[in-house]
Amino acid sequence: MALLHSSLCSCCALFLLAFTLLQAPRVYGRETESRYVVGVRSLLPSSVCSSPRDSNPSMMKVVHRHGPCSPLTPGRKPANIKLLNQDQARVNWLQRQISIASNGTRASLATTIPANSGGSIGTGNYVVSVGFGTPKKDFTVIFDTGSDITWIQCQPCSDGNCYSQQQPLFDPSQSSTYSNISCSSPSCMKLDSPDCSAGRCRYEVEYGDNSQSMGFFGSDTLTLTPSDVLPNFLFGCGDQNEGLFGRAAGLLGLGRRPVSLVSQSSPKYGGVFSYCLPSTSSSTGYLTLGSGPLSNIQFTPMQTVSDSPSFYFLDLVAIQVGGKQLQISPTVFSNAGTLLDSGTVISRLPPSAYAALRLAFHQQMTRYKMAPALSILDTCYDFTGYDTVSVPTVALMFGGGTTLNVDFSGILYVPNVSQACLAFAPNGDAKDFGIIGNAQQKRFNVVYDIANRRIGFGANGCN
Ligand SMILES: *[C@@H]1O[C@H](CO)[C@@H](O)[C@H](O)[C@H]1NC(C)=O
Ligand SMILES: *[C@@H]1O[C@H](CO)[C@@H](O)[C@H](O)[C@H]1NC(C)=O
Ligand SMILES: *[C@@H]1O[C@H](CO)[C@@H](O)[C@H](O)[C@H]1NC(C)=O
Repeated sequence: MALLHSSLCSCCALFLLAFTLLQAPRVYGRETESRYVVGVRSLLPSSVCSSPRDSNPSMMKVVHRHGPCSPLTPGRKPANIKLLNQDQARVNWLQRQISIASNGTRASLATTIPANSGGSIGTGNYVVSVGFGTPKKDFTVIFDTGSDITWIQCQPCSDGNCYSQQQPLFDPSQSSTYSNISCSSPSCMKLDSPDCSAGRCRYEVEYGDNSQSMGFFGSDTLTLTPSDVLPNFLFGCGDQNEGLFGRAAGLLGLGRRPVSLVSQSSPKYGGVFSYCLPSTSSSTGYLTLGSGPLSNIQFTPMQTVSDSPSFYFLDLVAIQVGGKQLQISPTVFSNAGTLLDSGTVISRLPPSAYAALRLAFHQQMTRYKMAPALSILDTCYDFTGYDTVSVPTVALMFGGGTTLNVDFSGILYVPNVSQACLAFAPNGDAKDFGIIGNAQQKRFNVVYDIANRRIGFGANGCN
């Protein structure tokens, strides 16, 4: 059973909805190097999608799963507390995977959340649309850097074995380019623990909660954009799927193992992909194989944890608040390690690093009244009655001299103006690895260059 996980996202819905900064650029700026000034009204959600006119046809469009730009019909908006609890469930699951892999030396699970409170998939916030087969059929899928296999729900699927999705199920018998994969095929051996049924290779992937997908492993043409067409792409044709996938048709796996999209396409794209996550759910970003725009990218070394070969690690070395570096020993970060994840929403820090961040942030926010904590977020402010607010900048510094100046949309999680919370959380144990979540990645061109073992960040990536 493959222990993968996925997620990207579900939690950010309101988070992103809460920001309409791209639509209101004039009320959003840096007062100085050390503070952002933001119009409070721009914190309120927008229900209208504003897609850039000149969106690049050679890139997949990334949208928030629950926002007005999503092709998926809106379901009931999940409550913020539920979204944040799901985010914690994903983190618990990720940390458990890695602690199992590294033999239990990191045993603690920072859990204030009941273990059965939900899934790691449910936090999958971002989706893209891709085409399978010939003629091509388009499907909206979750994309996830924390798992490897790509799968979509397929026919035939017995009653109740597939969840209900937006688009009709993919029918391989209607595609002239679909191939079955036999159990003896080398392609089948790319799976962690392949199964065999009547001579045909089967995959199985289980995510953090009860979410899972099983089915036949097959190959077909994958059309990402008109110019990015991958023949004979290996993917799962799910016939038993359940979990928190919403109405998405499946999942695009962007991990590092041989079966992932990045690995399969590396002869063509050199083992590089990049994305930009939009700052709001009413705007769009992109996902592209290859590096995307390379202007002003700063790179930091990509670290590998040999027991956890799917995951992308990097070296967080310091944090700045309001332009001043916090007094945190670098060993606090290096002892724990740091994972870059597209599917965790809120970044997680070693407890002492978080305490230093919270203290420095709060000392620069004393003009605002505090508001109650929200799930895992314990540092919240009430902006009622203000036209604009001024918030200290936050920067994450990585090995190699790379600095990520967190966008304003990644500093506060704002369900409403009376409760705007610092969008970071502590781990329960100093040995748990930290996570750079998707909130803090927003508006950066994030480049995963596996071939050269480096990760890049470029500001203003979505423009
Ligand atoms: C796991 O770690 C424990 C002690 O920490 C050790 O006794 C055990 O042999 C290790 N197991 C494996 C499979 O490495
Ligand atoms: C794949 O296998 C199924 C079941 O044996 C069969 O019905 C189908 O025609 C095969 N598809 C192809 C393209 O060979
Ligand atoms: C703001 O959001 C919080 C958490 O979702 C909620 O408890 C509170 O009632 C909301 N306040 C208003 C004024 O909507």
